This record gives sequence, structure tokens and C-alpha cells, in this order.
Amino acid sequence: MPILLAIESSCDETAVALLRGEDGRPAEVLASEIASQIDLHRAYGGVVPELASRNHSLHLRPLVERALETAGVDIGAVDVFAATAGPGLASSLLIGSTAAKALAVAAGKPFVAVNHLEGHLLSPFVHLGRVPPHLALIVSGGHTLLLDVAGPARYRSVGSTRDDAAGEAFDKVAKMLGLPYPGGPEIEKTAAEGDPAAFAFPRSMLKEPNFDFSFSGLKTAVLYTLTDRAPDSGRPDPGDLPDLCASFQQAVVEVLVAKTVKAAAALGRRTIALSGGVSLNGALRSAFREACSRRGIQLHLADPALCTDNAAMIAFAGLLHHFGKRHSPLDADIDPNLPLALA
Ligand code: KG4
Ligand code: ZN
Repeated sequence: MPILLAIESSCDETAVALLRGEDGRPAEVLASEIASQIDLHRAYGGVVPELASRNHSLHLRPLVERALETAGVDIGAVDVFAATAGPGLASSLLIGSTAAKALAVAAGKPFVAVNHLEGHLLSPFVHLGRVPPHLALIVSGGHTLLLDVAGPARYRSVGSTRDDAAGEAFDKVAKMLGLPYPGGPEIEKTAAEGDPAAFAFPRSMLKEPNFDFSFSGLKTAVLYTLTDRAPDSGRPDPGDLPDLCASFQQAVVEVLVAKTVKAAAALGRRTIALSGGVSLNGALRSAFREACSRRGIQLHLADPALCTDNAAMIAFAGLLHHFGKRHSPLDADIDPNLPLALA
């Protein structure tokens, strides 16, 4: 069974994974190592590209060695190498991609350039080992995408955000509320004690006859609520925080679930898959579980460890391309704006 080593370095996590798999059989994650830079960037309230790339180069080699050790695999036993080619930060992508290509050249093995979004998209199916036809919702820090998936490498765009990505909305609203970066987990934690119906925030584009999303109006509504309630400071009363977080989270969850379910019905898809950092959100996961079970729709959620950026999802996408003989030339460049190849 082929073994693939993948490197992910598109943003602020350096990650290396080893996966073993056979076409159509559950893939085995032999190692999935992540060196998080979150603490480093937290002081700046967001990702600083120069710091990110410097840390990728510092962490990558020890991380590759640790992943091989965890997997109990000798580098000579790796059959294919893969790396994220985009979208992401150019200087960060370059570190992982160059390293994976160098390893492939040295070993005389094939290389696969993987789209980061495709990694997220396929992450709910790592343990299944195959990708059934389905409707996919990717909700990450940079993207909110609805895709009709016929199978690996057969994707059609159904809808996307017109402005902020769902994760970006979480991060920006958290910043307004004085919560640390990244905002998603902080908002979820704070929302646990709040009333999701306390503030009537807008459900944007819910009634429009398309499957696009918009989150900037919701963000502005939170801002206006803050300035209304504390005209001098614009800072929320700490007592309001749980209700603000719960009401904001509920507005995002409702729109994501309603539009996804509607798109599935319109396209006749009976299977939905959810991926990306925001898909870690407990309120979103349970709302999807409920909506899908009520309609007899099969739901695939990515394993929590595979929701935020990781290399196992890149490895799985790489492995499927390897099975489909879709290898990449060694001069394949990174692309910070790499679009997902659509059919
Ligand atoms: O997929 P990801 O790790 O990176 C990108 O490719 O963007 O997603 C990161 C995003 C951030 O915006 C973060 O705030 C959000 O996912 N996120 C969450 C949760 N955990 C992470 N959003 C809502 N609830 C969470 N529990
Ligand atoms: Zn991501």
C-alpha cells in the first residue's frame, strides 16, 4: 500500500502528515504533526506573513523527522510526496512546497501539488477512503464555499460568500468584542453561557434565489449594537458578551444550515459534507446534524483534528490524485490565489 508524505504551510500552521492507503479503502493516518504559531501571532491580532514563513523554515525539518518517527517509517519507504500549492501566503507556501519537491527529487518519487481548499473539501472522507457524490460546504478563515461534488477532482461551484468568509466574520467580530485571536473558538466558548435569541441580528441573503452568502451586514449589525449600548467606548459590557456571542453565532449557523440544505434539495443531493475550521463549531455541527436527520440526509463531518489546518487532509487529497495518476511537474509553482479546479 502506498505511503504519502504531505506538507502544509499555507498560513500559520506548519504541518506534516504520513498517510497509507489503497484506492477505495479507508486511509490510515500514520502521523499528523502540527507546529502551531497561534501564540506567536496572537500578540498582533492576526497572522504576520514574515513571522509565519520564518517559523515554517525553523519548524519544518524537525517536524518531518518527528512525523517519520511517529509513523515508524523510513524516508526511503515514502512512495509519493505532496504539498499545498495554494491558496495562502506566498512566502509560507514556498517553504513547504520547495521542501516536498526537494524530497521527491532526492528520492526519485512523484510529487503532487494540492489545493488547500481541496484538502478541506475531502477531509470528511479520510476514514472512508472514497468520496461519494455530495454537496460540500467549506467554511474556513478564508473561504465559504458550496460545491457540488461528483467525485474526486469533479467539483462544481454552487455558491460562495460575496464578502467575508464565515471564519473571517468570527475573527472580526471577536476582535470588536475584545476577544483574542483566533476568534471562532473564543466566540463559541463565550456563547455557551448566552442566549442565542437575545439580539436580533440579520440573516443575510436567506430569501434570495441563489446559494451565495454575505456576512459583512451581520458584522456591521454587531458593531452598531455595540456603539448603541456603549456610545463612548464602543466596548461591550462584560455582562452582554455571552448574549452577543450566542446571537452572532446563531445568525451564522442558521444561514449556513438553511442555504446548504436548500442547495442540496435543489440539486437532488442526499449527502452533505462539512469541512474547514468553522466546522469545528459545536452549534454548527449540531444544527447540521438535526437538519439532516430531519430530512433523511446523510451528513459527513470531518474529524475535529482534521477541521482546522493540518497535513493529513492534504495527504488524503494527494493520495487520491496519486490513485488517479494526476501527478504534478516538479516545476509546478505555488499560487497564493490558486483557484479550485472546477469541472
Ligand atoms: O480552516 P482553517 O484552520 O484555516 C483556513 O484555511 O482559513 O480555519 C480557521 C478559521 C478561523 O477563522 C477560526 O476562527 C475558525 O476557523 N474557527 C472557528 C472555530 N474554530 C476555528 N469558528 C467557529 N467556531 C469554532 N469552534
Ligand atoms: Zn484552511
